[in-house]
Amino acid sequence: MLNEFFHFFVTMVKIILIGFMGAGKSTIGAKLSELLGIPFVDTDHEIERLKGKSIDSIFNDEGEASFRQLERQMINFLSMIDTEFVLSVGGGLPCFNNLMLTLKQMGTTVYLKCPTDLLAERLMHDTQVRPLINGLNKEEVIQFIDQKLLEREPVYNQADLIISEEWSAESILRRLLPRKS
Ligand code: S3P
Repeated sequence: MLNEFFHFFVTMVKIILIGFMGAGKSTIGAKLSELLGIPFVDTDHEIERLKGKSIDSIFNDEGEASFRQLERQMINFLSMIDTEFVLSVGGGLPCFNNLMLTLKQMGTTVYLKCPTDLLAERLMHDTQVRPLINGLNKEEVIQFIDQKLLEREPVYNQADLIISEEWSAESILRRLLPRKS
């Protein structure tokens, strides 16, 4: 165990959280970064800072295609940074511009896999405006999630680690440590 622990911490730690909107990537990412004592980066947050406006405004003013290009540029930039971090990426990011491959080359990818009903429940109660589901009722949100997951899961499932229960920073660390031996 000590050997596994040592090996994990002498390796450059880059943990990349992927998954659908509402999977808890930002919350768990922040906690993971706190536990590991390394920076936390969230692509949506960085894009908002760079553009000086919300993701919702970017979608409205410039369209989704432009947002996907910003995501690509952000990942290209982050892939050149030689420091440790926990990275949370927007739900669609791995599924555009072949970015899942880049993410896997950057570090350890972790898919936070959540059932549709839990995602819908969280998204319906979230105050954050998400352009892709803005104005939908719960039934429509459920349909949207199911349909998008059909497209996206083949990509998400390429992650190095899939967490489908016990979604927490502690559980991710428990599952990562033995993998590094
Ligand atoms: C999106 C997810 C959002 C954000 C944008 C598009 C998607 O990020 O990038 O609204 O395509 O699933 P979160 O997954 O952090 O909500």
